[in-house]
Parts: sequence; structure tokens; C-alpha cells
Amino acid sequence: MAELPSVRRPEPPFLAALRGRPTGQRPIWIMRQAGRYLPEYRAVRERVSFRQLCREPELACEVTLQPIRRFGFDAAILFSDILTPLEPMGAEFRFDEGGPRLERPLRDEDDVDRLQVVDPREELGFVADAIRLIKRSLPDGTPLIGFAGAPVTLAAYLVEGGGSQDFRRFKAMLYSRPDLVERLLDLLADQVGEHLVMQAEAGADAVQLFDTWAGILVPEDYRRLALPRVRRILERVAETGVPRIFFARGGASILPLAAAAGADALGIDWTVGLDEALRLVGRRPLQGNLDPLVLLGSQDEIRRRTRAVLRAGDAAPGHVFNLGHGIVPETPIAAVETLVATVREHGRETS
Ligand code: CP3
Repeated sequence: MAELPSVRRPEPPFLAALRGRPTGQRPIWIMRQAGRYLPEYRAVRERVSFRQLCREPELACEVTLQPIRRFGFDAAILFSDILTPLEPMGAEFRFDEGGPRLERPLRDEDDVDRLQVVDPREELGFVADAIRLIKRSLPDGTPLIGFAGAPVTLAAYLVEGGGSQDFRRFKAMLYSRPDLVERLLDLLADQVGEHLVMQAEAGADAVQLFDTWAGILVPEDYRRLALPRVRRILERVAETGVPRIFFARGGASILPLAAAAGADALGIDWTVGLDEALRLVGRRPLQGNLDPLVLLGSQDEIRRRTRAVLRAGDAAPGHVFNLGHGIVPETPIAAVETLVATVREHGRETS
């Protein structure tokens, strides 16, 4: 059979960095890049609820593209939420001013037993539809990130019923009925694994697993309870071939544990320098880690701090520039413009 001439596109810098391969420029995207700091996002939210945004592919696609159009980031992230897969499992929640609220927090064995692992292709088809639509709409060469929450973070919301300083109800269950918590973590691991695989199959070019509340656990409990489930999820996703980012927020003590989860790249929060992170986890691709609140500071300070993160990232075998946690709604657009311009300048100096 005659070979068709194939046009080989260069690998997008974001995917190259995750694989530890050289990139022409330092890739950048930011956590929560589609969100309330964008006037065009707030305009959409005046018309439709957050839930609708997550469930209607055309709307999800529109807000996913907003930060790409405005800033030209090197990756888009699917507009959805880590709590989205919980609803078909049997946990209803709503979003109000204070964040997510579970209609019925899990309190006992019966509550855990009522949760079921569902086929995401049937129950969460709108997520796959959104991914297919976004992939058709993104500029050529801009990869799309799929994502999910890690079992401990999801379990903490399910038991607590919402956000919390210390997740004391969740930890009370952990220290009184560890068997129940383990069952819950297993259910969530199965659901999250399938959810990520569905996203990769629908066209996501990379996935990120968010363990936002990893730091609430005693490190030894994280090793024993969380890590095996995270590893199982990441192994399941490995079958699809897409690179996997693991972001466990919990500072220096969680990092060596996170490194053992087997992801292709590690997200680093802003409490650990990237140089220190490399010492803790060895040479591997990193993503992060400007303190998001630097963006509330002066233009000079934003440039200075951004350059410091870029220089620290030079030492990693791959570095995706990001914030160390989500951007806050108060962030001025001009701050993000300065951030992106500073990252682009660095790319020119070093390539
Ligand atoms: O732009 C993106 O990053 C993609 C979309 C995305 C959202 N949530 C949209 C969202 C992603 C990746 C998330 C992840 C998420 N959701 C996490 C993990 C990352 C992190 O920030 O720690 C967590 C813990 C959640 C749960 C959640 N969703 C909370 C606690 C809240 C309320 C507080 C807040 O920051 O708004 C949400 C709501 C939410 N998720 C909003 C957005 C844009 C705001 C909703 C609105 O428009 O009113």
C-alpha cells in the first residue's frame, strides 16, 4: 500500500514538557483559568448557573475557550468540576456563595453503601461530548487537559458536606470507622479511573488529578490510604497513553509520597520552591508554582516573582509554568497579561 505523505506537527510545548522533552518555549496555563476573574465568564454566569455550565457542552466549550482566546495559553482545561462525577454516584450537591454543599453528607455505613460506581459513558456523557466539541474548536496545537479529583479530596467533601478548614467530620470518620473510609476511597478510585479514561478516549491530550486536600492527612495515613488508590487510578489511565499530572497540595511533606504515585509530572503548590521540590522528588517534570496571590501585587513584583519561578524551573527536565493553586476571582486581567508576557520573554531568552 502506498504511503501517504505525513505532515508531522511539532509536539506542543505543554506535552513535550510533561514528557521531559525539550521545548522551544516555556509552556504556561493556570489553574482555574476559566473562572470569575474573567469578565466574559461573569457575563455568561449572569445568564446560566454553574451546574448548567458544567452540563451543557456548548456552554462548557465556550468558557473553556475564553482564557485561550484572551491570553493564548499553551493548554486548555476542560470546564467542569471535580464534584461532577459524584452526582450520578448518588451524592447530590449544589453550589452557593460559600462553595459546594452536599444535600446529604455521608454519615454512616448505609450512606456509603448507597453510593454506586456508574458507567461514565452513560451517566456523564455530557463530559465526553464537551471534550469532543472543545477539541474541534481549539486552535491547532493547543492541547486539552481533562481532570478529576483524587479519592481523599472527594471523600473529604462527601463526608464533610462542603468545604472546611480542617474537615473534622471526615477525620472523625477516619479515626472511628477507617473501614468505611477505605470502602469509600475504593469506590471513588474506581469511578475516577473510569472518568479519566473516558476523557482521554474522548480526546483529552493529558489529564490532571487534583488532590487539593492531601495535606489534611497525617503523612503516614496518606501513604497507607491515599497513595495505593492514586496509583491505581494513574495506572488505569496509563493504558490510554496520555500524560498524567498529579497535583497533591500539602507542601514538602507530601511531595515524596506524591512522587511515588507514578505520574508523568508533579504539580507543586506555592509553599515549596521548585528547587527544593526537585531535591525531594528527584529529576522529573514539574508544574507550578507561583503563589496565586502574587497576582494581587505590583507589576514589578509579578515580573520579579515570575522570573524566579522560571529560573528555578530551568533545572527541571520539563517545566510547565502554572500557579501553585487556583487563580482567585479578585485577580486583575492586567496581572495575568504581565505574567504571560514575562513567561514569553523567558522563552525567547533561553531557546
Ligand atoms: O478553569 C479551570 O481550571 C477548569 C475548571 C475547574 C473548576 N473547578 C471550575 C469551577 C477545575 C479544574 C476545578 C477543580 C476543583 N473544583 C477543585 C480542585 C482544584 C482546586 O482549586 O483546589 C476543587 C477543590 C473544586 C471544588 C469547588 N468547585 C469549590 C471548592 C468551588 C467553590 C469555590 C471556588 O473557588 O469557586 C467550586 C466552584 C467552581 N469550580 C467555580 C469554577 C469556575 C466557581 C463557580 C462559579 O462560577 O460561581
